[in-house]
Amino acid sequence: MTLRTLDSLGPLEGRRVIVRCDLNVPLRDGEITDDGRVRASLPTLKTLIEAGARVIVCSHLGRPAGAPDPQYSLAPVAERLGELLDASVAFATDTVGPAAQQAVAELQNGSVVVLENLRFNAGETAKDEKTRRGFATELASLGDAMVSDGFGVVHRKQASVYDLAELLPSAAGLLIAAELDVLDRLTETPERPYTVVLGGSKVSDKLGVISHLLPRVDRLLIGGGMLFTFLAAQGHAVASSLLESDQLDTVRAYIAEAAERGVELVLPTDVVVASGFAADAAHEIVAADAIEQSSFGAAGIGLDIGPETAAAFAAAVRASKTVFWNGPMGVFEFPAFAAGTKAVAEALTEVDGLGVVGGGDSAAAVRQLGFADSQFGHISTGGGASLEFLEGKKLPGLEVLGWQAR
Ligand code: 3PG
Repeated sequence: MTLRTLDSLGPLEGRRVIVRCDLNVPLRDGEITDDGRVRASLPTLKTLIEAGARVIVCSHLGRPAGAPDPQYSLAPVAERLGELLDASVAFATDTVGPAAQQAVAELQNGSVVVLENLRFNAGETAKDEKTRRGFATELASLGDAMVSDGFGVVHRKQASVYDLAELLPSAAGLLIAAELDVLDRLTETPERPYTVVLGGSKVSDKLGVISHLLPRVDRLLIGGGMLFTFLAAQGHAVASSLLESDQLDTVRAYIAEAAERGVELVLPTDVVVASGFAADAAHEIVAADAIEQSSFGAAGIGLDIGPETAAAFAAAVRASKTVFWNGPMGVFEFPAFAAGTKAVAEALTEVDGLGVVGGGDSAAAVRQLGFADSQFGHISTGGGASLEFLEGKKLPGLEVLGWQAR
């Protein structure tokens, strides 16, 4: 079976269509700091509006504990959606209660309502199937059809992602279709050389993806906090840098496997070591095998890849035809430690082929560092979802739409 797409739902005029988006955006003091996911939901929403559907948008935001919690309200997101659609968008102050029912009853053809955070209801993420199904059934009573378009959440077996798609006639929206198109190219037919750049803090989050990718890629570049576990696995002291000692054997096995397979595993040759974890911490550049010899001694903490490494990573990225990048190279939120991430992002914009930014922190990083989405081949809206896809895992939110992992 292949992915069911929007046209499989037939004419939508006058039908109530529940759209499961991933509008889980970062907020600071009630303000959206990156509206990338709201923008990414527009093509499907516009298509449904133009088709005359009565559009009911639902999403989670953050991880509230299954009850209303104002700091996770979707109200600011509904407002932003209205601005981007240049249309009035209603907001229901509950998800399946009287406010939602009334707002849905008042919908006109081509108009839109956003429901309050799905995770204000314990049933959304319940492990118990009956509870989850019960909540999905309440949600389903609001609509005649369901469009699943929250790619960032397809790895979650949750009520609105999985059960709802079983209960109503359902299909994937344009965002999910576009994400799959790109990720499928990465797994099936990548043009070579194929380089994967991994960063972020923990190697334990990336074990699945590393072991799945080693047989498939030509080069694997390692930066971010996880690089220190790789350096330690090679026998280097890493002072007070992030280290997952329980992963050393696993990482040694990856290093050996890469050598056996002829995969170029590129580790940093220099790093930026700081006196502490702070934006204004004193810092210096040292060789990757001399971290403890910085003037901070055993207290030194590595917060970015060094300039020599950044140049080498950038060159490897530019020389590739296919690149997937997940995880910042350093603590990019602090300008003094953003150079490595910036260098990789810059190189990715220059790839003569397909350059993919793999969601989550990496997507936030490129926007925060001033890059435009249009400079990249693709910016995935799913961090965990895109990694699990590349790990070859079965994703419940895709399987329920007819997609089968190869
Ligand atoms: C994400 O930000 O990766 C998605 O919105 C999924 O959120 P979750 O990890 O809280 O399920």
